[in-house]
Parts: sequence; structure tokens; C-alpha cells
Amino acid sequence: MREAVEVKASRSYPVRIEKGLLDQAGELIRERTDAKRACIVTGEHVVKLYGERLQRSLEQTGFQVLRFIHHSGEQHKTLETYGELLGLLARSGMTRSDLLVSLGGGVTGDLTGFAAATWQRGVDFVQIPTSLLAMVDSSVGGKTAVNLPEGKNLVGSFWQPILVLCDPALLGSLPIEELRCGSAEEFKCGVLRDEGLFDALSKNPALASSEDVIRRCVQIKRDLVEEDEFDRGSRRLLNLGHSFGHAVEVCSGYEILHGQAVAIGMAMIARAAAEKGICAPETAEKICAGIRALSLPTETEIPGETLLKALLRDKKRSGDTMNLIVPETIGSCRVEKVPVEELGDWLRLGGAR
Ligand code: GLY
Repeated sequence: MREAVEVKASRSYPVRIEKGLLDQAGELIRERTDAKRACIVTGEHVVKLYGERLQRSLEQTGFQVLRFIHHSGEQHKTLETYGELLGLLARSGMTRSDLLVSLGGGVTGDLTGFAAATWQRGVDFVQIPTSLLAMVDSSVGGKTAVNLPEGKNLVGSFWQPILVLCDPALLGSLPIEELRCGSAEEFKCGVLRDEGLFDALSKNPALASSEDVIRRCVQIKRDLVEEDEFDRGSRRLLNLGHSFGHAVEVCSGYEILHGQAVAIGMAMIARAAAEKGICAPETAEKICAGIRALSLPTETEIPGETLLKALLRDKKRSGDTMNLIVPETIGSCRVEKVPVEELGDWLRLGGAR
């Protein structure tokens, strides 16, 4: 078995990345817990693909297994679904020494993590991400949350898993659009910290679902989480492309997928950074060309005025300023504190119509 990426945060845990891990999940989880019961939390689509295999593996290593199956989609990452999950845990007599296991993408992981953080003031949980985006981003680092009607991820906590199992073989069932969304987050890691990764993905987008690229992205995320677990400093760099991207995502009514919106957001901030003299024009051009090579968009038809209104409601805003993440060179970015009255200008320089 290949060496795990170790995350040393408020709780230390391994992230294992290897094909075939799903069927070894029971043994690998057993090494890290004495729990008697394990509640698999999964979505209605993923359960059909992988639910039985995970349940079998857990039962073979002595876990009593229960399942919570939620409706798929971000619109179901709600307090209501969270309450239903807690209700099941209560009725099933789950104790503080039992375990939750998330099997799914970011929605499932965030929901499971938040339930684990709060059920009886905190129980262990394991992340088994099934989407590329969840493998390289949301399953690592302990951000957990559910949405409110007023906005995404408004209720949550930092709660680290005890183990993350990334099985790239599971990506075989992922729609191409979802794979591309994951590759947007990988590309972001390249722009943030690794020119070699940036070049490799720009030249060969097929590498996005390879073990080596997933591992490198997890290492980059691990480094940022270890530097700043609670998101007050350098971890905020992971928001590259997310401020403008979030506005695009919201204004499209979530028709534009998260990874596509992040790609547009990265292209916009790169163009604006070049106009402001923060990076060279060639850097912005390379970023936009790389995004296009991954078959991701670099522009939006949504008017700048509309984007601005959404941007002003973003929870990343603090008072009269907003922290935008800007590229300086490929592999190096910084936080730029921008007064809110200048955001319209940044959007315009980024190419908003
Ligand atoms: N997804 C951004 C973070 O974990 O900080």
C-alpha cells in the first residue's frame, strides 16, 4: 500500500489515495477505531453504486451498520436533512464511541461532518469521497457545514475526520462534467503552489483523475490546513477563484456548476490582477489558456451589476473590505484586501460585461 498523506491538525489523520481502497475500507477503518456501530451516510445515487460494497467491508470487520440515504444535490444539504440524520442516530442508539462514514461527494461529506461534529458533542467520522472535487478539496481539512435558505455553508464547524480514503477507481462512474469540476480545483492548487502541476494539467487534462495528481493536490491542501487550520490566514488562499466564482454560481441559479464557476472566477481574477499590475499579462493568459485546455469556461454572460450584488452578500466579505486571492506568478498567490466600493472595478477589469 502506498504511503498515506498525513494531516497534522487539531486531530492527525491519514489520507490514503489508491485504487481499490473501497473494498478494504472495513479493515482500514478498524485500525483507527473501536466503534461497534457505523452509520454510512450517502446519497440516493451513490448508494446504488457503492453502498453494498462498503457495507459488506464494514460488516466483515465486525461493525454493525446502519445507513442514512439523503436526496442528492446541494439543495438537500439543509438543516432539515441534518435533523433527519440526527433523528436516525438517536433512534438507533448511536453512542459517543460510534462512527459516521461519509460515502459521496462534497454535499455528503459536509453533512456527515457537521452531524459528526455535533452529535453528542462530537463523534468520529471517516470520509470516503466519490467525486474528484471531494477527493482533492472538501474531504480534507475538516470544514463541515449545511446551508440555510439565506446562503451556502452558513452553519458549520471545523471537525477533522479520523481517516480519508480516496479510491480513484470510483471516478470511473463520474460524469465528465463532474470530473472537469474537480480538475478546476486541482488547477487552482497548481496556480497556488506548484507550477509543475499547473503545466502537467494544462498539457494533459487526462491526468486529472490520476493518483499522482490527486496526491499532489491533497499535499498542497494539507500544507495550507496545517499552516492555518481555522482559516484566518494562508488557508484563505484556497478561495482563489471562489469570490467571483461564488457570485457566478449563485447568479446562475446553480446552473453553472461549482467547478465551472471557480474556473470563471480564476480567469476573471487573473485578468483583473494583470490589469492592476499584480501579475504579468502572460501569467493571466497562461491561466486562461490552462482553464480552456481543461474544457472549462473562462467567461460569463452574467452582467457585472448582478455579480456585484451577489458579491456583496458573500460571507467572505468582512465589513467594508473583501479579501480577494490574486495570482502574482504561477505557483504564488496572495491575499488582497479590497474596499467594497472597488469591487465593481475589479469585476470590470476581470471581464464582466
Ligand atoms: N475548500 C476550502 C477550504 O477547505 O478551506
